[in-house]
Amino acid sequence: MPSTAPTAAQRVTIALGERSYPILIGPGLLGQPDTYAGLPVAATALIVSNTTVAPLHAERLQRALAPHYSRVLQLALPDGETYKDWAHLQRIFDTLLAHACDRKTVLFALGGGVVGDMTGFAAASYMRGVPFVQVPTTLLAQVDSSVGGKTAINHPLGKNMIGAFYQPQRVVCDLDVLGTLPARELSAGLAEVIKYGPIADMAFLDWIEAQLPALLARQPQALAHAVQRSCEIKAHVVGQDERESGLRAILNFGHTFGHAIEAGMGYGAWLHGEAVGCGMVMAAELSARLGLVDAAFVARLKRLIQAAGLPVTGPQLAEDNAGRYIELMRLDKKSEAGEIKFVLIDGPGRAAVRGAPDALVREVIDHCCAPA
Ligand code: NAD
Ligand code: GLY
Repeated sequence: MPSTAPTAAQRVTIALGERSYPILIGPGLLGQPDTYAGLPVAATALIVSNTTVAPLHAERLQRALAPHYSRVLQLALPDGETYKDWAHLQRIFDTLLAHACDRKTVLFALGGGVVGDMTGFAAASYMRGVPFVQVPTTLLAQVDSSVGGKTAINHPLGKNMIGAFYQPQRVVCDLDVLGTLPARELSAGLAEVIKYGPIADMAFLDWIEAQLPALLARQPQALAHAVQRSCEIKAHVVGQDERESGLRAILNFGHTFGHAIEAGMGYGAWLHGEAVGCGMVMAAELSARLGLVDAAFVARLKRLIQAAGLPVTGPQLAEDNAGRYIELMRLDKKSEAGEIKFVLIDGPGRAAVRGAPDALVREVIDHCCAPA
């Protein structure tokens, strides 16, 4: 059954029939018991977090959950993309089983996208599925990863290769938690905010350009609008194509090049949002070379990404740099029969998913990467 939640400052709904759920957006939500009213009834809750976020925010969440559950357990995983793997997923199962958690146990993912993706995957598979709630604490997680039900861990050969589509019961975006976020992580989150402009809403891109100083200064109203509009766009896309049979792939603008950067550099060297930011510049350049947008559009996007504090020049991954990018991109989940599919900008505010000749992709990589 869909859950019901109390009124919050702002609410966006992911409309997926029985699996519909609200995204609550506002200040101070994390520590209010009312935020968690109406979730599936259970004896036990497990807060999964990491060693950075737990000391900052887990105690308030623990207290807010106490009226709803007889037991509120906590697990803090080590912090970082490099731990988004089988061994650390197993630690979630170890904790659940060591405490004899039953199939009604509710998992709470308190952290960024790494904790959210791992906790979601654990929830999808523990006893064949238990409910979970996303409590995202990075901007990136609030505007993207906590919403839409993609859960996964990495494999050494490819990012997010092992996972499941599994929707949370609720997403709680407490804007106050962004106050403790390092500046580099804020910028990484802005990459995913910027993404929504070129693929879906040029008026939003105009707004981001105008409000970038306010966003970088963490002005509460600017952050609230950025989170809300991003979630609205994502909700609209996911509501039409939950399991990415087509349209949802547009949310991966910048990710084909970006995932190659992340895997090629070793997970964690570049932040996911940094790789996506640079990947958007490369995908926009490819779009221009295919005649889909003009050079001025690419320059505009690049300026904004750079102003958001993100890298716009790709790293060298190997001696045969373009060859290595292409090799890594063939592993992308959008690839079909070995053909790499790119999310391209097909005119401002519109995205298309299609292949491109290898020779052109090589030109783009050579053009966009730092010299060897
Ligand atoms: P992250 O989870 O690694 O968090 C970034 C860093 O910020 C970590 O060191 C974390 O401990 C710290 N942190 C988190 N919240 C904090 C806070 N409030 N105060 C201080 N420090 C805080 O990274 P991320 O950028 O949130 O997420 C990236 C991950 O999300 C990647 O693994 C990516 O693949 C995944 N992702 C998933 C989806 C999806 O749809 N499921 C979408 C986009 C990205
Ligand atoms: N972040 C891309 C998606 O959720 O589909």
